[in-house]
Amino acid sequence: MTKQTPWSQRFESALHPAIARFNASISFDIELIEYDLIGSIAHAKMLAHTGIISSVEGEDLVAGLEQIRSEYREGKFNPSIEAEDVHFAVERRLTEIVGDVGKKLHTARSRNDQVGTDTRLYLREQIEQIRTLLRGFQIVLLNLAQDNIETLIPGYTHLQRAQPLSLAHHLLAYLEMLERDWIRLGEIRERVNISPLGCGALAGTTFPIDRQYTARELNFSGIYTNSLDGVSDRDFAIEFLCAASLIMVHLSRLSEEIILWASQEFGFITLKDNCATGSSIMPQKKNPDVPELVRGKTGRVCGHLQALLVLIKGLPLAYNKDLQEDKEALFDSVKTVKACIEAMTILLGEGLEFRQERLLQAVAEDFSNATDVADYLASKGVPFREAYNLVGKVVKTCLGAGKLLNDLSLEEWKELHPAFEEDIYQAIMPTQVVAARNSYGGTGFEQVRQALQEARTRVIAE
Ligand code: ARG
Repeated sequence: MTKQTPWSQRFESALHPAIARFNASISFDIELIEYDLIGSIAHAKMLAHTGIISSVEGEDLVAGLEQIRSEYREGKFNPSIEAEDVHFAVERRLTEIVGDVGKKLHTARSRNDQVGTDTRLYLREQIEQIRTLLRGFQIVLLNLAQDNIETLIPGYTHLQRAQPLSLAHHLLAYLEMLERDWIRLGEIRERVNISPLGCGALAGTTFPIDRQYTARELNFSGIYTNSLDGVSDRDFAIEFLCAASLIMVHLSRLSEEIILWASQEFGFITLKDNCATGSSIMPQKKNPDVPELVRGKTGRVCGHLQALLVLIKGLPLAYNKDLQEDKEALFDSVKTVKACIEAMTILLGEGLEFRQERLLQAVAEDFSNATDVADYLASKGVPFREAYNLVGKVVKTCLGAGKLLNDLSLEEWKELHPAFEEDIYQAIMPTQVVAARNSYGGTGFEQVRQALQEARTRVIAE
């Protein structure tokens, strides 16, 4: 049996079949094939451009690589495990197509700078796709907020009723988190977009390559200045996973709220049939599977971040095979983040309805206007802390009597403090409580309208 290894004649026998499977990455790094081909085309052009190979050879290589691309897109290129990884698979097929000149492609290149190039090209494109999805989700939030400026919803701290809010204000809080995510990804893209191609195995190459040429061909904005750093740096991947984890954490917080809101206890929303599932045994159930899955998948992405940090922490320079383990973490995170943003966009866009009458009732049935009574007195010259203590007592009395603040008669108010007038009733109405918080960034309707306007210009701008 002839040996089946892509390596040099130094090896006399083939890998143990189980070790070949263990070693191979083709089952997952095939995901990189389009980028591997683009990178190889740029490399082949550079080899011809610098005279390292002839221009005819360069053209043959490019044509062969383009043929592999067509074959792959038509589902005709399905390399087996023997190819070990996508890089060897492409080189092997190229040599079948163009003959011996195919063996020249790897001149002045190593799989180490090659895989780094592929991963960056992949991530650069994925980042753009994720940013587009984020924008789409933000627009759904904007529209939902627009329709609900005057819808009130209880606001919580410690999951205890605190102060009522404009529902739009609540939704816009998520829009802001996603805005930071969008910006963050843009910043990370800058550091992803640096070319390691030409760093070779670790030390550069003896050939007169032109690294700027390949960087330009591949639209990289710069090149790694140190070859060792170029082949072993995965900071960009960790930064991406960090940003991806934050996106997931934001989606997960929103998911948790939606799950609570859909419960009978809150009853703030109804899930529509297109985004809810039933139980196999309890016929009355309507389950919030979508936000639950998003919340659940958050753990996966955060886990991948942790995995990559630990993967890198003990690695001596330069390339180590451990680095092959970065791929599944990245690919799974990218797929998960995209799927979750898409699902949440559908859920918020067309999968739920806010129950206006329930929300109205909710904000009127508690003491979340207590701060406003204290503010009322404070605005009439009573020191705030004194007013605060007095209102605490009032709440206690009301609780004992099974009353809300609104149920107190004007005489009762006046007994508590002579500064109370008829207008106290107006001041503690939920709508007024919200409207009055007109400080910059607050929930007052006027502020919310401005915030919406400003967010719309930002989100729709580019
Ligand atoms: N499949 C490898 C990876 O993903 C490609 C680079 C292999 N380099 C090497 N020196 N064995 O990391």
